[in-house]
Amino acid sequence: MNPSSVATAAEPNMQSMTIEDTPAAAQPSEPKPFAWNKCVKVVLVLLGFLLFAMAIGSGLHSLKQWKSPSSLHSLANSRAAPQACCSPACLKVADRLSLAIDPFSQPCDYFLFTCGLSGATRGRQRGKGTTHHSNSGEGERTKKRHGKRVETDRENDTLVERLPDRETLLKESIREILEMAEGLDSPNSLEWKARQFYRSCMNTDSIEGQGSEPFLKVIKQLGGWSALGQWTQTDINSTLALLMGQYGTFPFFSVFVGKDPNQQHNNTPYIQIDQPDFQIPTEWDDQSETSKAEAVSMRPFLSSSLNFLTLLGVPRSSRAMSNGLYMALSSELAKKSSPLHHRLQTNMLYQRVTIRELQTLAPVIDWLGCLKATFHPLAISESDSVLLHNLPYIVHMSDTISKWLLKNGVMGSGTIQTYMILSLLHTLHPALDSRFRETQRNLSVALGNMEEEDPRWKHCIKTTERGFDVLLGDMVRDRTAHRETEELVGNLYSSLQSKLTDLAWRNKESRNSVLKRVKSLTPRFMAHTDKQKLAELYSEVVISEDSYFANCLQSLLLQQKRRTQLFSQSFQPDIMSITPFLSGSAIIFPSGMFLPPLFHPSYPRALNYGGLGFMMAKDLLHLLLPDLHTESGSPESVAACVWSHYISVTEGPGRVGAFSLAPSQKLEVWVQYTALQVALQAYQNSLQQHQNDASLTGLFHNHLFLTSFTQVSCDPYPYRQLMTFEPSFLVSVICANSDLCPSQMTCEKKPLVAPLDSC
Ligand SMILES: *[C@@H]1O[C@H](CO)[C@@H](O)[C@H](O)[C@H]1NC(C)=O
Ligand SMILES: *[C@@H]1O[C@H](CO)[C@@H](O)[C@H](O)[C@H]1NC(C)=O
Ligand SMILES: *[C@@H]1O[C@H](CO)[C@@H](O)[C@H](O)[C@H]1NC(C)=O
Repeated sequence: MNPSSVATAAEPNMQSMTIEDTPAAAQPSEPKPFAWNKCVKVVLVLLGFLLFAMAIGSGLHSLKQWKSPSSLHSLANSRAAPQACCSPACLKVADRLSLAIDPFSQPCDYFLFTCGLSGATRGRQRGKGTTHHSNSGEGERTKKRHGKRVETDRENDTLVERLPDRETLLKESIREILEMAEGLDSPNSLEWKARQFYRSCMNTDSIEGQGSEPFLKVIKQLGGWSALGQWTQTDINSTLALLMGQYGTFPFFSVFVGKDPNQQHNNTPYIQIDQPDFQIPTEWDDQSETSKAEAVSMRPFLSSSLNFLTLLGVPRSSRAMSNGLYMALSSELAKKSSPLHHRLQTNMLYQRVTIRELQTLAPVIDWLGCLKATFHPLAISESDSVLLHNLPYIVHMSDTISKWLLKNGVMGSGTIQTYMILSLLHTLHPALDSRFRETQRNLSVALGNMEEEDPRWKHCIKTTERGFDVLLGDMVRDRTAHRETEELVGNLYSSLQSKLTDLAWRNKESRNSVLKRVKSLTPRFMAHTDKQKLAELYSEVVISEDSYFANCLQSLLLQQKRRTQLFSQSFQPDIMSITPFLSGSAIIFPSGMFLPPLFHPSYPRALNYGGLGFMMAKDLLHLLLPDLHTESGSPESVAACVWSHYISVTEGPGRVGAFSLAPSQKLEVWVQYTALQVALQAYQNSLQQHQNDASLTGLFHNHLFLTSFTQVSCDPYPYRQLMTFEPSFLVSVICANSDLCPSQMTCEKKPLVAPLDSC
């Protein structure tokens, strides 16, 4: 392991450098909006000056000119403004933070700010201060359309600069790790392999240069292809075993590993067999209970497969014929595929058979041989059980293939080979030149997929993760093992526990049972992977400097190994997760959560607790919620209280209770409000342990905490759609009856929530 790889974990803490700071309390002045830039400049000057000073032995006194960027008081902490954090990580995050809304500078309308598209609007625009919640509370909300948030009729509201979602943030961090130059001089170290894989993916010039050549080589290794005129007729069993074992391709049925839900106390993983993911678009017909090729999608589908045949060099004379036969076989196979709801109704899922029984049910496939290849080197025998999810399809598939094999030449086994080769192309086309990717892309657009294409770097991170997830998990983990993460999680969990203790419970038993469960769970970090095991997993991987295609084949072999390891469970499966999850009696906090800009050990704690702390509290509440909401009466009354605050501010007092929230919306309001309270309490506890906490962009302590919260409250997480107002409004509810806020949230136009009770 390269020792320099952990360098980022110990970024120099420049906070400890002496900056002659005039305490703000002694020199009251107005907050300066661009004071932060000054801090950046000062640090640069400071660095330059240090070098200079070393040379000429001069002092640092010229820095005395620098003034504290802030004079804001915290009511709760009316001490002097703490020192500004000027660590590299702080400097980086300050830009983002300066775009966040400060709830205390515009208390009259800050909560009408809208969570905007990330990057869509920079800076702050003044809102008109109009009220805009609708009767249903949902109709006017931003809508999820084609997987992308679309702003509806709120274009005149102020948009909050939104952080990218957490998955993107994790990918950005991994990108940073992979793009670091370090380790380049130790080729074939494990980290070098991951970096080189990523780099070969980014090297589009080289990918374009190779064209379809690498794929044609693979076809040769598979015995050729009748459509290209060279074919040493191989039997379908051996080709299929190769595709499943070495190329991660499952043309006729899909194979995966999982537990049997019908055996609750048995954690044994089973091989499971399902219908495949068909390339041909089909629609389900309820009457005949079959799937039919979708008429409107046929043209784009046919033209894309024709395009693929052209790109692979199939001669014009036989192209149309091969394509037509391919389509005929595809639609015939797909006939017996059926949607999940139908299979649930007819009890098709998790049907247990032995491999021997499967062989008699669907004789054309050499099941034992294929499964042995898929899970090499595991010992698999005919008496082992597998779980089927669509037996009628499997039987039909076997019959169809037998029937086609009886036809002569290209008509029969040739078409079966075409079908397998185009399935393989589907697995490998992302590794080929842009003509292949564009063809696939055009088809997916024609079929109605409106999602934007990932930028190249993100696509490459995703493909790198596929083979190197364990290693990347470990690299991320190396950079996040801090005392500070443990403190954050510890404070948060104990604050959550005491919050749950104080809830209004429906009865004593339910209170005790929930608290017992919460106590029985231990918060834990994702464990480090055993270095020996890591080395074993990656030692045989040969990464090429210039061939992305060759590297993708290596990645498929890695994925085969990982599939096999699902039986021995030697690696944590959710290694790239971004939210806490339950595993036995532990709550696991994955390393990928603790990365900038959401977390850094050098950040002021207020930033970490108000941002990531709030998000984690939200995650934990949702994780424990199935137990909580039925047991406690709290969510309803708290949500009603918060909602009446909102109504009274936006509509005036007379309208309280005019609209009501659906139960799921109430629950979400409660979750978010409670999460904010829990995180704030955890921060207060941490302040009691260590009073020092740095400032950033002139903000500190609770003020910085609440600003950090406002920024992450726009996080597009799964339950976000249930929130009937912008979560930043919760700041005014918290401040209504608390001395924790830096200033009273008053405004000339109307009183903000003052007359109401605290929630
Ligand atoms: C937004 O502002 C523009 C110009 O100020 C105005 O013409 C338009 O009607 C406004 N739209 C809404 C929805 O208020
Ligand atoms: C594949 O192997 C199975 C089992 O040995 C056999 O029954 C079947 O006929 C073979 N299929 C072909 C097409 O050769
Ligand atoms: C994809 O679609 C675009 C726009 O319709 C077209 O210009 C392009 O030639 C198509 N590419 C391929 C490879 O089919």
